[in-house]
Amino acid sequence: MITQLDVPLVAAPMAGGPTTPAMVIAAGWAGGLGFLAAGYQTVETMAAAIAEVRASGIPFGVNVFAPTPVPITAERYAQYAALMQREADRFEITLPTVPVDGDDDFDVKLGALLADPVPAVSFTFGLPSAAVITRLRRAGTFVAQTVTSAAEARAAADAGVDCVVAQAYTAGGHSGTFTPDRMPEPLPITDLVTVVSAEVKLPVIAAGGLSTESEVAAALAAGAAAAQLGTALLLAEEAGTSAIHQAALRDPARTETVLTHAFTGRPARALRNRFTDEYTSAAPLGYPALHFLTSPLRKAAAAAGDPELAHLWAGTGHRNIRRGGVGQIFGELSP
Ligand SMILES: Cc1cc2nc3c(=O)[nH]c(=O)nc-3n(C[C@H](O)[C@H](O)[C@H](O)COP(=O)(O)O)c2cc1C
Repeated sequence: MITQLDVPLVAAPMAGGPTTPAMVIAAGWAGGLGFLAAGYQTVETMAAAIAEVRASGIPFGVNVFAPTPVPITAERYAQYAALMQREADRFEITLPTVPVDGDDDFDVKLGALLADPVPAVSFTFGLPSAAVITRLRRAGTFVAQTVTSAAEARAAADAGVDCVVAQAYTAGGHSGTFTPDRMPEPLPITDLVTVVSAEVKLPVIAAGGLSTESEVAAALAAGAAAAQLGTALLLAEEAGTSAIHQAALRDPARTETVLTHAFTGRPARALRNRFTDEYTSAAPLGYPALHFLTSPLRKAAAAAGDPELAHLWAGTGHRNIRRGGVGQIFGELSP
């Protein structure tokens, strides 16, 4: 599937708003492939998005968070929650005082994707069991796995996936690493594609920091079958990126991104702001506990138009991104 695209570009799944059915449809019309982002969604919302894209008749994928909980002690949680509550007091909201757990309805979403199969599924955050991957493939679904190292690619290949998405540390949003407490060596995307391709005989989709035609060309030259674009599409006409996020991406004063687990308890790359400055070193790991802890605070800050407490996910290529339709952006970045 991924080796037969007219345009070797993939619209990255971007949960939390940016990915829309319109973005996925536009990616397909442009000759590439788009992934819906089922993360944080209910199974009903996921199914409605699938129906909308399916009606367009183009191939597409659905991305699912594979549960890889990152534990946190009650004591560490309480310490961080107290810091967060001080920020939340300004908005007169109360944050969860005990860790909230959850698996993003993995089994329910998987059940829906098996009952009503889609052309492709990709996973991030963790590797599902070989049994899950086999069931999806038997249902006719092409299975892609996000990996951040050669070792993770080997594990994914052994579990039977069709393809790996090699995600470099430069990527916007969450890292898909299987070991959030031990981030893999930060390799440039071309080096990551090289080591992953040497490790597994599967098509590789390159992801992370790709925002110019020459960067995409270099990833393909290193052996990638396609390049997956996230940040480059955040200002696309079809994107559902929040107003506060869009404004921050267009703000010339925001020149830096940082890798931080302060928002969700898993490492993710975001535009630097007051929150990342003040809390990156204080924050413990703990997912999804920290996600649920800070979520009401981030929503309240966004509603108040305050970008300094919001998670402004962005990859290292954020200064190059432009407005325009997905088709136009694909045209500009396709070598
Ligand atoms: C706002 C945002 C949300 C993201 N959400 C997801 C997601 O739901 N699932 C996923 O597999 N990757 C997600 N990612 C990571 C992308 O799939 C991809 O790896 C990354 O965007 C590539 O790096 P780039 O942003 O520099 O292009 C997200 C990235 C961003 C910027």
